Amino acid sequence: MLALGIETSCDETSVAVVEDGRHIRANVVSSQARLHERFGGVVPEIASRAHLSTILPVLDAALAEARCRAADCEIVAVTHRPGLIGALLVGVTAAKALAFVHGRPVVPVDHLQAHLYALRMAAPEVEEPMVALLVSGGHTALYRFGGTPPTARLLGRTLDDAAGEAFDKVAKLLGLGYPGGPAVQRVAAGGDPRAVALPRAFLEGTHDFSFSGLKTAVLYHVRARGGGPNGAARLTARETADVAAGFQQAVVDVLVRKTARAAEAEGVRVVGLAGGVAANGPLREAFARLAAERGWTLVLPPFSLCTDNAAMVAGLGTALYVAGAARSLDFDAYDHATE
Ligand code: KG4
Ligand code: ZN
Repeated sequence: MLALGIETSCDETSVAVVEDGRHIRANVVSSQARLHERFGGVVPEIASRAHLSTILPVLDAALAEARCRAADCEIVAVTHRPGLIGALLVGVTAAKALAFVHGRPVVPVDHLQAHLYALRMAAPEVEEPMVALLVSGGHTALYRFGGTPPTARLLGRTLDDAAGEAFDKVAKLLGLGYPGGPAVQRVAAGGDPRAVALPRAFLEGTHDFSFSGLKTAVLYHVRARGGGPNGAARLTARETADVAAGFQQAVVDVLVRKTARAAEAEGVRVVGLAGGVAANGPLREAFARLAAERGWTLVLPPFSLCTDNAAMVAGLGTALYVAGAARSLDFDAYDHATE
């Protein structure tokens, strides 16, 4: 059974064709990062317009790669929450039009659940439930994930910034450009993570996170050296690398320790890493070390399934459809999450 997936919640336009909820026949992603770069973050109106001009070429590319027609797909799955509302509406409208024209059911999908579902697509044989850390530009949360249909129980979440957002803000502060995560990782590789002492908020007794104190500490450190927003010019390349490395290490330490505690508390021996920040090399290595130490199973999806993509949407849409999810055209897009 083929499913057509559509994802337009933020700054990636993506269309995928997935067979039986699992085999990815095509997963085409067009990133708008270049358009938003000079603003240091995603500009919602620019994102919506870019989705509008890109959605049909990306659809054609995905169908060509999958060697099928839209009519061959049994369902259309689309991200309808959470995200930028104008951006979501482009994908939702395209999905409804395709479903209407071809007489197919359309399954609305939650973007966060789709990130978690990417874990199952990456490792379908793994025993569930697992404790999954979802780390993206908009969200940082721990879930207990598993079951049929797949469900996610929220264990804890960030009280302020998402981890990816903190990466993006620190990158801006250090003048490293957008998107910040890959830029910080690149520069941090040449720095000493112990050179600058930065705080870690463990919020003991909860599974919640907080990154605003860390972000502010980086700001004060940079200012104390005469730098400021985009003022990294005042810092030497070595100093910039040390701050980036110290920041990245602090984020990794918190994410790893809190995930470990959540898994212990839940009595679960499988942990997963999902979302855009899961592309971070040192974070992946730290999770691999944790799993090896504890004898736990680690699910680490490939980069293409970590960052925003439509394959995870088609996958989750299929699972929901098989489980009897609502499938009429009568649904809306929402900027907020369900919880
Ligand atoms: O999941 P995603 O593609 O979009 C959202 O739903 O937010 O995540 C994007 C986030 C951005 O904040 C970006 O800076 C971060 O993921 N990111 C990284 C890396 N690659 C992407 N953060 C740290 N290290 C990376 N290598
Ligand atoms: Zn995402």
